[in-house]
Amino acid sequence: MNNFDKTYVTDAKFMLHGGDYNPDQWLDRPDILNDDIRLMQLAHTNAFSVGIFAWSTLEPKEGVYNFEWLDQIIDNIYKIGGRVILATPSGARPAWMSQKYPEVLRVNEYRQKQLHGGRHNHCFTSPVYREKTQKMNRMLAERYGKHPALLMWHVSNEYGGECHCDLCQEDFRNWLKEKYNNDLKALNDAWWGPFWSHTISDWSQIESPSPIGENAVHGLTLDWKRFVTDQTISFFENEIVPLREITPNIPVTTNFMADTFDLIPFQSLDYSKFAKHVDVISWDAYPAWHNDWESTADLAMKVGFIDDLYRSLKQQPFLLLESTPSLVNWHSVNKAKRPGMHLLSSLQMVAHGSDSVMYFQWRKSRGSSEKFHGAVVDHDNSPNNRVFKEVAKVGETLEKLSDVVGTNRPADVAILYDWESNWALNDAQGYGLDTKRYPQTLQEHYRTFWENDIPVDVITKEHDFSSYKLLIVPMLYLINEETIARLKEYVANGGKLVMTYISGIVNEHDLTYLGGWHPDLQEVFGINPVETDTYYPKDENRVHYNGKTYTLKDYATIIDVKGATVEGSYDQDFYAGTPAVTSHSFGKGKAYYIGGRLEHSFHEEFYSGLMEELSIKPVVSVKHGKGVSVQVRQDHEKNYIFVMNFTERQQMIFFDQPVRDVITKEELKGQVELGIYEVKIVDETR
Ligand code: GLA
Ligand code: ZN
Repeated sequence: MNNFDKTYVTDAKFMLHGGDYNPDQWLDRPDILNDDIRLMQLAHTNAFSVGIFAWSTLEPKEGVYNFEWLDQIIDNIYKIGGRVILATPSGARPAWMSQKYPEVLRVNEYRQKQLHGGRHNHCFTSPVYREKTQKMNRMLAERYGKHPALLMWHVSNEYGGECHCDLCQEDFRNWLKEKYNNDLKALNDAWWGPFWSHTISDWSQIESPSPIGENAVHGLTLDWKRFVTDQTISFFENEIVPLREITPNIPVTTNFMADTFDLIPFQSLDYSKFAKHVDVISWDAYPAWHNDWESTADLAMKVGFIDDLYRSLKQQPFLLLESTPSLVNWHSVNKAKRPGMHLLSSLQMVAHGSDSVMYFQWRKSRGSSEKFHGAVVDHDNSPNNRVFKEVAKVGETLEKLSDVVGTNRPADVAILYDWESNWALNDAQGYGLDTKRYPQTLQEHYRTFWENDIPVDVITKEHDFSSYKLLIVPMLYLINEETIARLKEYVANGGKLVMTYISGIVNEHDLTYLGGWHPDLQEVFGINPVETDTYYPKDENRVHYNGKTYTLKDYATIIDVKGATVEGSYDQDFYAGTPAVTSHSFGKGKAYYIGGRLEHSFHEEFYSGLMEELSIKPVVSVKHGKGVSVQVRQDHEKNYIFVMNFTERQQMIFFDQPVRDVITKEELKGQVELGIYEVKIVDETR
C-alpha cells in the first residue's frame, strides 16, 4: 500500500511514553503516589494505562463505589501534562462477585469449574458478568468521559482463554445453528459426521472439544475456535457499548499478545477478526532478549514480523502498550536487558510502526507474583539506577520523534498469514507433528526481506492484494473458494504469487479438496502437487536451482507439471530429477511454487531474482553488515530511517546519500560507526 498520508490513531501528536500504572496498590502511601508524579517527569513519560486491575478498589462491595482516588490520580497525571489510557477492569474481578454469582467463574476443557483466583478467568457468556462489566464501564465513561486527560480506552486486558460452562455450550450450539441455518445435515456434512460414527442427531448432543470427550472431529474443533474468537469479541462489544455511547470520539483498543516462547503471533484468537472491532491495534511485546538459543538478530527479525502483521491488520500505526524496561518474571530465565538494548528494542517497535513505547509496569509492586517484574521505578524508588536512566533516555529520544507519529510504511511485498489455516494445520494428524511450524515458516520467508531492508506487509486473506508487486503465501493449508478466486484474480491482473508445499489442502470446513489440487490453482500454477513427503529430522534432500544446490528438510512435494516451467529439481530419493520449484505465467502475472522446505540461502537466491525482476528495492540505500536492520517510516515529505545494530559487535554502515541525524541534528554521510546495540535515526527529504 503506497499511502504516505499520516494517520493519527489518537489525538496525541507526540510519541506516547509511559505504561501500566497501578496506584490502587499504594493508596495508603501518599508519599509514594507523590513520588510517582515527580518520577514520571524525570522519566520523560506522558501516558499511563490506569485502572487495569482495579475493580476491587473501584467497587469494594457490590454497589459501593469508590472513584475518588482515581479522580486524584487522573488529575495529577494531567497536571504534569500527561494523558490517561483508562482501562475497564474486567481482566480481574473482585472476590465478592465470584462468591455471589458463581456463573462468572470459568469452566475448563475438563469441565472443572475454576475457583476464584488469578485473573483473565471469567466466563465470556455469563449474563451477570456482561451486565456487571457494562455497568462499571458506564460509570467510568460518565465520570471521566469529558476529562481532558482521557486519551483512549484500554478495554480489559489481554483477552484470551476459553470457557466450557453450560452457558457457553448453549451459546456455541446457537452459534452453530445460525452458521448452518438450522440444518443439522449441513453440520454433519461439514464435520464429516459418519467418521467413527460421529453423526449428530440432535443439536443438544453437541459439546465443545475436550481431552476427555470429542477431540478428533476437526470441523468441530475449528468451529469451536471460531466461536471462541466470536464470543470474545462479543464480550468486548458488550463492554464498549457505554464507551461508544458516552465517548464516541475516544478511541478504543485492547492489548493483543504474541506467543512469547517462540515469538510468533498469538495463536488462540483470530486477530484478523478482532481488528475490525478496535480503533487502534496495540500489543504487548516481551521478547526474550539475550537468550541462549538464538541470536539477537534472529529474535529481532521475529519481532519485526509480528509488528508488520499487527500493523497491517489496520494498515495504520499501532501502539506498543506493554514491554519491560528490564526483565520479566515469567520466562524460564529472567535476564535483564543489557545496556543499550532497551533503547534499541523500543525504537525497533517505532521503526515498524508503533507510535508509543509503553511498559508493564510503572512501579514494581511490593507483594505477590509480579514483585520482581521489571518496572520503571524499582523498589529503591530511585531515578538514579541504570534501568530508570535508560527509560528516561528512551523518553528524551521519543520527544524528538513527533514528526514520525502517524507515518506509515508503504510496502511492495506482502506475506499472507492466516489464523484459521494455522489452527487447522496444527489439528491435522499427519505430516510431521513437530515440523509443521507454520508461523515460523512465514518468518523464514520474511527473513530475506528483513535482511535486505525491504518493507513487508504481513496481511490476512481479507486484504486487497492488488497493490503488492509480490505476494507470498507459504503453507496455506486451509483455503476457501473465495481466497482461491482472489489469488487467481491477483495473478491474472499482473501480480506475482509465490506458494509453497502444504497449501490448498482443505477447505473452510477442514475437508480435503477432492480430485487433485483445486482446478483454479492448477490453472494458475500450471501444476498439480500429487504427494507430500515428510522427512525425519535427520533426513535431507537437495534441490538444484539456478546452477546451485540447496538443502531441503522436513517436506518435499512431488509435482505433476501441467504447463509450468521447471525452475528447480530434486537431487535424491525416488523423485530425484523431478520438479521441486516451478513458475507459470498466467494472465498478466506469474505464479511460483516452492515444493519443499528449503534453506535460507535458497530464499535469498530465489527472492533476490524476483526483487530484481520486479524492481523491489530498499526505500533508502544504507550499506551494512549482517544483523543490522534498516527500517523506514514515510510521509509525503520525508523518510525516517532507523538503522539498528542487533549484534554484539560494532558495525560500520555507509550512507550513500547525506542524511540528518534526527537526535543530534548533524549531517551524516558515507561511513558511520554503529556501536553494540546502537540505533541511529536519520531522516531525508523524499
Ligand atoms: C501481561 C499483562 C500484564 C503483566 C505482564 C507481565 O502482558 O498484561 O498485566 O502481567 O504480562 O509481563
Ligand atoms: Zn462460560
